Amino acid sequence: MSDITNEIKKRRTFAIISHPDAGKTTLTEKFLLYGGAINQAGSVKGKATSKHAVSDWMEIEKERGISVTSSVLQFQYDGFCINILDTPGHQDFSEDTYRTLMAADSAVMVIDASKGVEAQTRKLFKVCVMRHIPIFTFINKMDRDAMDTFDLLDDIEKELGIATCPVNWPIGSGRNFKGVYDRQKKHVELFSDTKKGTTQGDVQTIDIRDENIQNILGEAAKLTLEEEIELMDGASAEFDQKLVSKGELSPVFFGSALTNFGVETFLKHFLTMTSSPLPRMSDRGEIDPMTEPDFSAFVFKIQANMNKAHRDRIAFMRICSGAFEAGMSVYHMQGEREVRLSQPQQLMASERKIIDKAYGGDIIGVFDPGIFSIGDTLTTVKERFCYEGIPTFAPEHFARVRQVDTMKRKQFIKGINQIAQEGAIQIFQEYNTGMEEIIVGVVGVLQFDVLKYRLNNEYNVEIRMDNLPYEHIRWIENENPDLEKITGTSDMKKIKDLKDRPLLLFVHEWSIRMTLERNEGLILSEFGR
Ligand code: G4P
Repeated sequence: MSDITNEIKKRRTFAIISHPDAGKTTLTEKFLLYGGAINQAGSVKGKATSKHAVSDWMEIEKERGISVTSSVLQFQYDGFCINILDTPGHQDFSEDTYRTLMAADSAVMVIDASKGVEAQTRKLFKVCVMRHIPIFTFINKMDRDAMDTFDLLDDIEKELGIATCPVNWPIGSGRNFKGVYDRQKKHVELFSDTKKGTTQGDVQTIDIRDENIQNILGEAAKLTLEEEIELMDGASAEFDQKLVSKGELSPVFFGSALTNFGVETFLKHFLTMTSSPLPRMSDRGEIDPMTEPDFSAFVFKIQANMNKAHRDRIAFMRICSGAFEAGMSVYHMQGEREVRLSQPQQLMASERKIIDKAYGGDIIGVFDPGIFSIGDTLTTVKERFCYEGIPTFAPEHFARVRQVDTMKRKQFIKGINQIAQEGAIQIFQEYNTGMEEIIVGVVGVLQFDVLKYRLNNEYNVEIRMDNLPYEHIRWIENENPDLEKITGTSDMKKIKDLKDRPLLLFVHEWSIRMTLERNEGLILSEFGR
């Protein structure tokens, strides 16, 4: 096996997602701790520093103390090279969050044991399910009073429509949290509170058949555990690696990130259950990193103006095959020319560092002089190909936007188009008029503030925004549809996107159904291709 293939085999690239406050930051920090990337909990991803240190690039982030962008962290553990794609946990997350999932081979979802599946996470998980991305569940905060375990699993199954398979099982919660029962090893890992700031906890285990177990757990807890094991063995799905890999079965783990309990167990299992970088679909069929030795990558995120003075951008790409070397020339498919990838960067814990080598599965950021778009393919493979595009996700908030000073029309159009090209917003027009009326659609409302701020700050254009009541958007999938003929509901609006594709906007969800009923043969889609 070549060195490159060996390196790629070691890679595990996953996205970590959770509802705000479920414990994603704390869990990530513990992972880094095990990987030796940091040596004391709280030193990198403490609330106070993390949100700034990792992606301190825009005033708006600082002002609000939240991370608008996603970041990537790399660390080594147990012979693996792990890439974590962090996703913004704020409720105003953007389309970037969805796109980040496209660059991952699997996803770890962190759930607060007292809350179950929450609104914001639901959407993200739906994208994972739709893309068949394997989902691993870490149910966190078991040191606090938790929901009933069966109810929690039920919640995940109902909300996300995938089966669950508990790898371990909690014994009590909150003040009565005793630890977890490992179903495969048939032993109990006893909970001990490893205080914040310390490194790794020692886990004591005891066999379930050990006669001391009753003394250790207490009679009531032992009885409950026995009952629950029996129930679980009868009710829950068996572990099946194939179903996990297809994203149809989620292995579930219980623990407490804050007290560092169950984290290493989770990490160890996770690394064996998830896969090394997977083949990706292209217009030339699947490109498998195990058989394609040359470099190929696709851009999944563009981050603008890290340095305002230069108006520069960083294009983040996921390497899908081969190796990357600093300064190498690659063919940019969409630009139809060779480009040199300069200033390649990677994030290691909180540091941004220039790298000289990276492999399939890794994420790198390169300097973008304004030539890349989301979804672009770069490659050194002779028989060229384009990776499958990244779908456009349906925005849920819409506003009509215009510049205050009519003299600044040109800057306004340039700015809004560039920001749309980066994928921060989507722009639409009335379907039968020109560019005068611009409708902006965003996935999270914070993007409206970002747009306003950036147009003002970078393009010196002040804008006015009038919110529109629409919440649902559908692309029309029929070939050459006659928009005039479509009869919808009174709350429907016909628009087109930048590629002149026709779309429909609706205020109410039920109007979509009605419109479909009224127009036989009409095909509507939630994602733009
Ligand atoms: P997020 O990235 O998903 O938004 O969550 P984060 O890790 O920042 O955790 C949110 C809060 O929950 C933090 O408390 C954190 O300490 C706490 N937390 C995380 N995991 C656990 C756990 O396993 N058990 C308990 N009891 N708490 C947990 P905070 O008060 O908001 O911040 P801090 O002052 O502790 O940093």
